[in-house]
Amino acid sequence: MIKSEMIFLGPPASGKGTQTERLAKELNLPHIDTGSLLRAEIAANSKEGQTAKGFMDNGQLVPAELVAQIIIKKIFSDDAQNGYILDGFPRSIEQAEILENELNKANKDKSEKRIVIKLDVDEDLLLERIINRRMCKGCGKIYNLKTMPPKIENICDECGGELYQRTDDTKEVAQKRFDTYFTQTAPLVEYYENKGLLVSVDANTTPDKVYQQILNVIGK
Ligand code: AP5
Repeated sequence: MIKSEMIFLGPPASGKGTQTERLAKELNLPHIDTGSLLRAEIAANSKEGQTAKGFMDNGQLVPAELVAQIIIKKIFSDDAQNGYILDGFPRSIEQAEILENELNKANKDKSEKRIVIKLDVDEDLLLERIINRRMCKGCGKIYNLKTMPPKIENICDECGGELYQRTDDTKEVAQKRFDTYFTQTAPLVEYYENKGLLVSVDANTTPDKVYQQILNVIGK
């Protein structure tokens, strides 16, 4: 059976967005990308966005209730009936327990389709990836000036949109994001290992090779 209820774990810039965007298209599953959903709230200047901005600019986790309320709705939407790809949620034990509770209420916590995929990358590569990341203002496609540059400077290959650098992609904020990951998110590794759901993938290699490993572990 193909695993189709997926959680991606990994430090900032480990390649979660790059891999999950491609996987969601190929499997026709919703890509539930917490960071992008929060950035959309900020762009819309909603109440949630205004609250989230301060935390994100500081490399801290946005309060769990705010994030969970956005994500849980997506997991139980009609679009997600055949599965979902969670990119960036949960990010703490507190969030994981909120998710387990909700799945449990819906009798979905024992689903054989569940898997948690951890992307492993050497720490010295992460900062380099962050500083060189650019994103499309139009479609959100992710580029890297060194490893995945656009064909035309500053222009998205897919939609022609302008590329920009995220405000949290500075050395200073990145360091805080790493600290947040290692203190609050990394404990999820043991949490999901204990549930028998965790698999690790070597994400130090090229995007195509990482993708192939992901297809293997989900049974595709
Ligand atoms: P979010 O946007 O999710 O940021 P993140 O987890 O720090 O992850 P990134 O988006 O930085 O990296 P990624 O792993 O997706 O890597 P990517 O594919 O882009 O969250 C931002 C903030 O929102 C958080 O700090 C927090 O404040 C808040 N937030 C989000 N979720 C939350 C939650 N659940 N609870 C509370 N707060 C939350 O790749 C990175 C770069 O590397 C790109 O340039 C890419 O082109 C390149 N690259 C990717 N793969 C490869 C490869 N194999 N080889 C070479 N280059 C590669």
